[in-house]
Amino acid sequence: MDLARLPQPGSPQLTVGVIGCGVMGRGIAQIAALAGATVRLADSRDGAAAAAREELHATFGKLVEKGKLGQDAADAAAARLRPCAGLQDLAGAHVVIEAIVEDLDAKKSLFASLEDILGADAILATNTSSLSVTAIAAGLKFPGRVAGFHFFNPVPLMKIVEAIGGLVTEAGVVDYLLALGKHWGHTAVRAKDTPGFIVNHAGRGYGTEGMRILAEGIASVPVLDNILRDTAGFRLGPCELFDLTGLDVSHPVMESIYHQYFEEPRFRPQGLTRQMLVAGTLGKKVGQGFYRYAADGKKEAIAEPPQQAKLPQSVWISNERPELAEKVSSLVAAAGVQIESGAAPSDGALCIVTPLGEDATTCCVRERLDPRRTVAVESVFDGSRRRVVMTNPATTPEYLAMACGALGGNGVPVSVIRDSAGLVTQRVVAHIVNIACEIAQQGIAEPLDIDRAVTLGLGYPVGPLAWGDQLGTQTVLSILKNLEQLTGDARYRPSPWLQRRALLGLSLHHKEI
Ligand code: NAI
Repeated sequence: MDLARLPQPGSPQLTVGVIGCGVMGRGIAQIAALAGATVRLADSRDGAAAAAREELHATFGKLVEKGKLGQDAADAAAARLRPCAGLQDLAGAHVVIEAIVEDLDAKKSLFASLEDILGADAILATNTSSLSVTAIAAGLKFPGRVAGFHFFNPVPLMKIVEAIGGLVTEAGVVDYLLALGKHWGHTAVRAKDTPGFIVNHAGRGYGTEGMRILAEGIASVPVLDNILRDTAGFRLGPCELFDLTGLDVSHPVMESIYHQYFEEPRFRPQGLTRQMLVAGTLGKKVGQGFYRYAADGKKEAIAEPPQQAKLPQSVWISNERPELAEKVSSLVAAAGVQIESGAAPSDGALCIVTPLGEDATTCCVRERLDPRRTVAVESVFDGSRRRVVMTNPATTPEYLAMACGALGGNGVPVSVIRDSAGLVTQRVVAHIVNIACEIAQQGIAEPLDIDRAVTLGLGYPVGPLAWGDQLGTQTVLSILKNLEQLTGDARYRPSPWLQRRALLGLSLHHKEI
């Protein structure tokens, strides 16, 4: 195909076909028309294309009312939307983007029908989120013109698109889609045709690790969500997130990616969400998921279990990692508690350990501390909005209360969890960083693009590779190694890509020759 013959993405000559006028197709048509392309709308459902045009006209009207769009621009974009009576009306389109039902056979047969209608240089793009681009293209006369163009919902607001080359996609096709996505106002990133591409692959860490923590009884639903929001900066906790997307969508995606990667333990889901799926407690849409929702959709808050708090006579903080000890000292200082400076704790002192990927028990035994008086405190992540205290199986209620008193200075809430390698935040974030490193290792995307895609597509506070750099690659590596050793689970085995960079002291954004 001769891509030079296609109009440039900003050209008024460009005609884009959008097939499937559901939520995604309408969103794609909206940004394409606003960016100056003529958009032909097609749908197998009678009247759907015309209805989509009417709805988009109304959307443009609302944008004008809000002052976000000029009347002339709205009228011009509206005039560029042309419903088709049938696929034949797509003849002459330069790029066709399908957003029909997520079914391999349906997509294959649609593209096969288009081959005889479209010109030899037209690009066939699929908005699939879970099917293989290579598989959709297989069997076509010109599979080299097929690529993925994966938008996110809602398209006009989620300003990220993945342009995906299948095994036989011509390089220029992806380049063209990258330029097109950019012209439409999105950050366009190049991705290889692999399950989940970038965003849905990188997103496997958060939910699956959260569910594992829940299933292990380490933290309850509100404790888990509160910790991850307040100490790591996620907008929603994993339970809140699953409730919002609905387990009818999220659980099958978790299983599908796990199986597509041939039972890769890093992606292993938990039985808990499958059970909830079977029970129909799907989340917000049915009024009951991890939380309950009122008729108006408002989430009913669940309070964390109340904790006793009293001040200890003194606190001894492990000095195995002086920088972490210092952080804990500053958290305790707010309560005005005396901090001991001796190599070993005095009788009766509350003992605090600062694990890195380890559990409280392991630290306590190695440091020969009295387990009844020992707790661990999260000290790698931000403690300004919430403190996390982790007991070991022998910690007494009295000493737990002292830990809550010592750490709850300035009225900062304290969450209490059971003993777990890597507490909550360390294991979740290290797991996310590790998966992103594997995405880079497999050449699915460039490191900077991985971070761009994840921050825009998943709303994480920072891209996973930049996060690894911020925490320190050695720190992330230590957390993962200890997690792997203590759990015996290959899920946590550190990516060799991460190990090399940690050993060489290189940034995870370092560009390799
Ligand atoms: P939808 O169900 O809202 O819309 C699909 C539309 O396609 C319907 O109007 C239907 O009548 C039409 N359609 C179905 N089969 C057709 C065919 N053979 N020929 C022509 N029209 C046909 O679906 P939605 O959510 O818009 O998803 C569309 C595609 O986008 C799927 O491949 C989906 O996996 C993908 N996607 C969806 C996202 C989402 O959050 N909804 C996010 C990213 C990708």
